[in-house]
Amino acid sequence: MTSPIVIAVDGTAASGKGTLAKRLADHFGFAHLDSGSLYRLVALGVADAGGDPNSESDAVAAAQRIPFDRRTDARVRSAQIGSASSIVSVFPKVRQALLEFQHSFAAHPPGGAKGAVIDGRDIGSVICPGATAKLFIDAAPEVRAHRRWLELKERGEQADEQAILAEIVERDARDRGRATSPLKPAADALLLDTTHLDIDAAFAAALALVQPKIGEALKAVP
Ligand code: DC
Repeated sequence: MTSPIVIAVDGTAASGKGTLAKRLADHFGFAHLDSGSLYRLVALGVADAGGDPNSESDAVAAAQRIPFDRRTDARVRSAQIGSASSIVSVFPKVRQALLEFQHSFAAHPPGGAKGAVIDGRDIGSVICPGATAKLFIDAAPEVRAHRRWLELKERGEQADEQAILAEIVERDARDRGRATSPLKPAADALLLDTTHLDIDAAFAAALALVQPKIGEALKAVP
């Protein structure tokens, strides 16, 4: 039996990795998992229970009862839940509680898809070290903050660009600095800096990087 095809798309906060992962999944007809939404669901569970994301016991309790099917709910996308998700993701027991869901998604992509595209921080380094292709997406923090600000403005939400920048820098530092599964490119990840690329150019670059490996792997799938 051949191993399932997996594209790991890791990267910094607001780097565009989620959009790129979704577009890669659509392009190849693969299933897409935004692993950040799992940590966001833990943070939401803590908030709904009136808990504190800095409390390991509150975070672990929420991680034991994750409503996985609610990962696309609009509530998980708020800036406040984004910050809290970075805080709860530091606890190894929270990360442990999310392992099985991610491994099973990669091993059996939903809908009978021939592969999965999973985006996050540790997909290529820890969750799927044997992934078929690995990307690591980054861009200058100021550019990421500006893109996030534009996105919020388009949605009609008020936002302060400097505050977004400060939050992004703080979140990256926490994600990079944690002891368990820190944000870092896997040794064999292909790096893509999108500072000077719009989303179409970034997608074209991402596709060009993964195409040789994925094309080869697809030939082996019946
Ligand atoms: O990708 P995102 O911004 O939705 O992720 C939210 C937080 O979840 C991120 O700041 C750190 C954590 N996270 C993680 O630790 N590992 C992942 N694979 C994905 C997200």
